[in-house]
Amino acid sequence: MRHVAVIGHPIGQSKSPALHSRWIKAHGVEADYTAIDGKDEDNFRELIRTLPEKGYAGVNVTIPFKQLAFELCDELTERAESVGAANLLIFRDGKVIGDNTDIAGFSAALSSMALDPAPRSARIIGAGGAAPAIIVALKEAGLERIEITNRTASKAIELAERFDIKPIGWAARDTKLGEIDLLINTTSLGMEGQPPLDMFVGSLPPHAAVIDIITTPRETDLLIGARERGQKTMNGLPMLVHQAVPSFEAWFGIRPDDEPVAIEFLEGLK
Ligand code: ATR
Repeated sequence: MRHVAVIGHPIGQSKSPALHSRWIKAHGVEADYTAIDGKDEDNFRELIRTLPEKGYAGVNVTIPFKQLAFELCDELTERAESVGAANLLIFRDGKVIGDNTDIAGFSAALSSMALDPAPRSARIIGAGGAAPAIIVALKEAGLERIEITNRTASKAIELAERFDIKPIGWAARDTKLGEIDLLINTTSLGMEGQPPLDMFVGSLPPHAAVIDIITTPRETDLLIGARERGQKTMNGLPMLVHQAVPSFEAWFGIRPDDEPVAIEFLEGLK
């Protein structure tokens, strides 16, 4: 019996156990996938040190430990290096190998939108933990202009410098949207229990698409408004499923290929 888990804090709301457990069952793998509260940095370090000897094949890492996980790895994939964060750890031969599947997760989710024409410009709202992988994915997709804005300007500027993209002031977040093909909310604004994202997006062009990586609620006010204007929208569930696929494959050597069904399954969960 192999164990895998997702570690974060807080972790109660994670949909990863339901998603992976469903695949474990479907593919007849002898394993279990649980959620572990990482509590704090010291506790997280201790977990990464002790879980391998307890029969863990690896873990997914989520907020707020992806950067610390990156620092603790013995080996890193290029993808993890490019983001500076690890959301997938593999415990192998006494080593901790760190990978990042958020880039591929976002890329696959974006591809599934089948945007035509392909987006050439994007504005990212928020420069927190989720932003770097999305920036790398957008660069890989060949976008010509990527802008980033964040309440705390220094964080947007830091990412803009690191990835050679354009920082925009928070007060200007809803200006000059007329040439934006893709708007992406990576903040927690709009999440259940949080205030909505206070931003007027009515001046986005009709062909623009809007992505909100929030999964609870399934449709934020931002997405409702965009959908009502006839724009293509996507919530965070496709990205979640598409980043989970390579994790499952890395641990068990089986690649789940039922993404649309898995997304629908998560859409139906509480
Ligand atoms: P995560 O790892 O979940 O991304 P995070 O790194 O704290 O968490 O990032 C949360 C994002 O939501 C940040 O962009 C944050 O802006 P700040 O960097 O200024 O904190 C943004 N955010 C959270 N609450 C916000 C609010 N009330 N107004 C504007 N932005 C907010």
